[in-house]
Parts: sequence; C-alpha cells; structure tokens
Amino acid sequence: MITFEHVSKIYSNGVRGLQDVNLTIGNGEFVSIIGLSGAGKSTFLRSINRLNDITEGEVCVNGRSVTKAGKKELRAIRRRIGMISQNFNLVKRSTVQKNVLSGRLGYYSTWKSILGIFSKEDYELANDALERVGLLDKLHSRSDELSGGQQQRVSIARTLVQQADIILADEPVASLDPITTQKIMQDLKQINQTMGKTVIVNIHSVQLAKQFSSRIIGFKSGCVVFDGTPEKLGGKELTEIYGRNILEEKEGAQDEA
Ligand SMILES: Nc1ncnc2c1ncn2[C@@H]1O[C@H](COP(=O)(O)OP(=O)(O)O)[C@@H](O)[C@H]1O
Ligand SMILES: [Mg+2]
Repeated sequence: MITFEHVSKIYSNGVRGLQDVNLTIGNGEFVSIIGLSGAGKSTFLRSINRLNDITEGEVCVNGRSVTKAGKKELRAIRRRIGMISQNFNLVKRSTVQKNVLSGRLGYYSTWKSILGIFSKEDYELANDALERVGLLDKLHSRSDELSGGQQQRVSIARTLVQQADIILADEPVASLDPITTQKIMQDLKQINQTMGKTVIVNIHSVQLAKQFSSRIIGFKSGCVVFDGTPEKLGGKELTEIYGRNILEEKEGAQDEA
C-alpha cells in the first residue's frame, strides 16, 4: 500500500511540482497517471521511491515512511520498488542477462555488487523473468541489438528479478509504435493480474489509460483533479484535466479523415 498525506513538492526554482496530494493506492491496483506535460506526473512517481525529496507531508510504502527513512531503510524500501522509463535505462553494451541480473544488486553488499557475484538462484530468476516476457532466446544478446519493445521488456524483466511488489513506469510506451505499445501494456497488465504486483504508469494516452487501468488519477498543476475508475472519466473530467475534451477531439479528427 502507498499513501500520500498532504504531500507538496516545491522545486528550488519555486515551481510547485505537487500540491497537497492525498491518496492511497492499494496492493494490486493498476493505476494510470494522466495530465498535461508539466502537470506533476513524474514528480509524483519519483516521490514514491524518493528519487525526489518532497517538501511537505509524508509518503509511506507498506506502512514504512519513505519520507523519514534513513539510508539503510530507504535502500530496503527501494529494493521492492521497480522502475521502468521511456528510455529503458539499460546498459547498452551489456548482455540482456547482465541487465536483468542487475535487478538483484539491491540485495547485495557493495563489494559483492562491484564484483558482480550472483548466485545460482539469481540466474534462475533472470531466466524465469525473461521467459515471462518472451525473451529467453535473447539471454546472451547485447541489449543494443534489441528493438525498443524488446528493450522495454528487458527492463520489465529486471523489475521481476528485483522481486519488486510495486512497478513504477514513467511513460513506458512513449517511444514505441502502437502495436508494441499494446504488447508492453499487456505485459504490465499480465504481471499485475497474475503476480498481484501494483503497477503505476504515467501515460500520455487517455485511451490506453482507459483500456488497461483499474483506476485513473488526473493531475493538473501538481494537484489531483480526478481520481476514479475509467468509466467515471468523461468529457467533463477530461476538460478539467486537459482544459478540453481530448477524446472527443480525437473522434472528430477521425470523422474528418
Ligand atoms: N528538477 C526540477 N527543477 C525545477 N522544476 C522542475 C524539476 N522537475 C520538474 N520540474 C517542474 O515541475 C513541474 C512538474 O514536472 P513533472 O513532474 O516532470 O511533470 P510531468 O511528468 O507531468 O510532465 C513542471 O512545471 C516542471 O517544469
Ligand atoms: Mg514526466
């Protein structure tokens, strides 16, 4: 469970990234975060694992305060939170296997992680994770030889070997074509449904948010202006988030074509 209590974030330049955010995300939810560029989606996501320090309020994950956590505790909390992003964050010259195994590093002391010593179980976890995303045959390929969609699946596999309970995805499909986008979203959904992991996705497409999530949260200027099921997100709510009903405009555009 993730809780935000009166969370605000003011950047050093005075920009308000988040403004008095209060919400709870339960285990096993599939949440999409929507809103215009600059609305605070990334700030929100990065506050969960404290890649951003918040200015006010408190963030808790599974009952532990992320905000007040010391170094050691933060490391333990972060171990259980996987993150994937638009640019995949892989070591391009390394093999798929090494990239996936790096998800285990949070479980080792610094010297072991520097030496890259992994156990037999780690290798098995890596194989299982790659099998789950359909990439076991790429085990020894160099990561930069893979397509964008395959690279994103490697980064998903890395969160699986990390044994994260929560997967944070910051615009995971922003650089992918529509068909690959569907596959990646389906992978995330499948992991959510079969493994019970909480998935939180920042996403630009309202249609994808509606298609895949059990809950949608809309941000505007750092504030939560919508929080509900996909069915509840209609024209009025979209206008509140985006300043206009963008789904209707899309339909209109298709009619003209
Ligand atoms: N490191 C930073 N320093 C100053 N302002 C920032 C920084 N990161 C983000 N912001 C500002 O905070 C607001 C929210 O940004 P962000 O969370 O990245 O929005 P989104 O992900 O929805 O596009 C924006 O106005 C952005 O310009
Ligand atoms: Mg962003």
